[in-house]
Amino acid sequence: SREVKLAVIPGDGIGVEVVAEAMKVLDAATADSDVRFEKTPFSLGAARYLETGDTLTDADLDAIKAHDAIVLGAVGGVPGDPRLKDANIERGLLLKLRFELDHYVNLRPSKLYAGAPGPLANPGEVDFVVVREGTEGPYVGNGGAIRKGTPHEVANETSVNTAFGVERVVRYAFALAERRRKKLTLVHKTNVLVHAGGIWQRIVREVAEEHPEVAVDYLHVDAATIFLVTNPDRFDVIVTDNLFGDILTDLAGAVTGGIGLAASGNINPDGAFPSMFEPVHGSAPDIAGQQKADPTAAILSIAMLLDHLGLHTESTRVTRAVEDDIADRGEAARTTAQVGDAIVTRLQA
Ligand code: NAD
Ligand code: IPM
Ligand code: MN
Repeated sequence: SREVKLAVIPGDGIGVEVVAEAMKVLDAATADSDVRFEKTPFSLGAARYLETGDTLTDADLDAIKAHDAIVLGAVGGVPGDPRLKDANIERGLLLKLRFELDHYVNLRPSKLYAGAPGPLANPGEVDFVVVREGTEGPYVGNGGAIRKGTPHEVANETSVNTAFGVERVVRYAFALAERRRKKLTLVHKTNVLVHAGGIWQRIVREVAEEHPEVAVDYLHVDAATIFLVTNPDRFDVIVTDNLFGDILTDLAGAVTGGIGLAASGNINPDGAFPSMFEPVHGSAPDIAGQQKADPTAAILSIAMLLDHLGLHTESTRVTRAVEDDIADRGEAARTTAQVGDAIVTRLQA
C-alpha cells in the first residue's frame, strides 16, 4: 500500500471550517483504496501569529517540505485588526510557501456545473483553466517607498518577469492546451506595460511555434474581464501573470457559481517540492465561525490533489460526488458541515 504524507494548514477564519469538510471527503474517497494519507496538521496563520509572533519559521518550512503535498484552507486575519498591523500573513506565510516551494504554476480551473447558481443568463458551456504564474510579477516584493508619509512620497512595486519564469509557465500552459481543446489565450496589458507585456508576448509566440495545433489568442486584461462575463465559453486555457491571474480568477469564480466553488492548485511541476491545494477564496472574516462557508472549493481542491498524485479514480469520484451535489442543491441553505456530509454520503453510496 502507498503512503502519502500530507501537510494540512487549515489557517484562519473559514479556512478551518472548509478544511474540516475537505478532510472528511479525502477520507471517504480513499477509504477503499490502498493509499493511506498520513496527515500532519500545521497551526499557521493569524491565530498562530497572535499567540507566538511567528508567521512561518524555518523549522515549519523544513517540516512542510518533508511532505508529499499540502492542503491549505485560507490565511489572513480580520482586515484592520490593529494587532496584525506589523504582520503580513499573506506575504510571510502564503506567498512564502508559494515562492519557497517554487509553485510556479497556479492552476485555477473554472467550470460551470449543471445547476450551479451563476449570474449569467446564457453562459453556454463554460470550462476553462487559468494558468496563473505563481512566483514572479508584482508579487515578488521588489518595491519600496521613499519620503514616506510626506506629500512627496514615492511608492514602487516593480513587476519582475524573467525569461526563465515566463517560459516555464507558458510551456506548461501550452502542454495543458494540447490535452484540452487546444486554445490558449494570453492575457496581459501589452499596450501599456510594454516591457512586462513584451516578454510574455514574445515567449508565447516562440513556444507557439512548437505547438502548431494550438490556436493562440491575445486579450488585454481589461477586455478579458468583459469576455469572462459576456462569452466565458470562448476560453480554454488562459495564461497570465501573477496579479492579473489573481483578479481574473475571483471573477471567473463569480461567473461559474460563486467563489465558494473555485478550487486551485499551486503546482511545482518538477516535483522537487510538494504542491499545495487550496480554495481560491480567503478567510472570509465576514462569515467566519458561523458554518456559512461553502466547502465545495476546498473539496474540489482535494480532487485536484488526488489527480496530481496520480489517484485519478479517487479524484473522479470526488468530482462526480460534487457535481451530483451541485445538481441537487436547490435553494435551501445548508451549513458548511451539511454540504461536506452530503458529499461524503454520495461517496459512500
Ligand atoms: P475572501 O475570499 O475571504 O472573501 C470575499 C467574499 O467572498 C466575502 O464576502 C466572503 O464571505 C465570501 N466568501 C469567500 N469564500 C466563501 C465560501 N467558501 N463560501 C461562501 N462565501 C465565501 O476575500 P477578502 O475578504 O478579500 O479577504 C479576507 C482575508 O483573506 C484577507 O486577510 C485576505 O488577505 C485573505 N485571503 C487569503 C487567501 C488565501 O489564503 N489563499 C485568499 C484570498 C484572501
Ligand atoms: C489568492 C489570494 C492571495 C493572492 C493573497 C492572499 C496573497 O488572493 O490566493 O488568490 O493574491 O495570491
Ligand atoms: Mn485572490
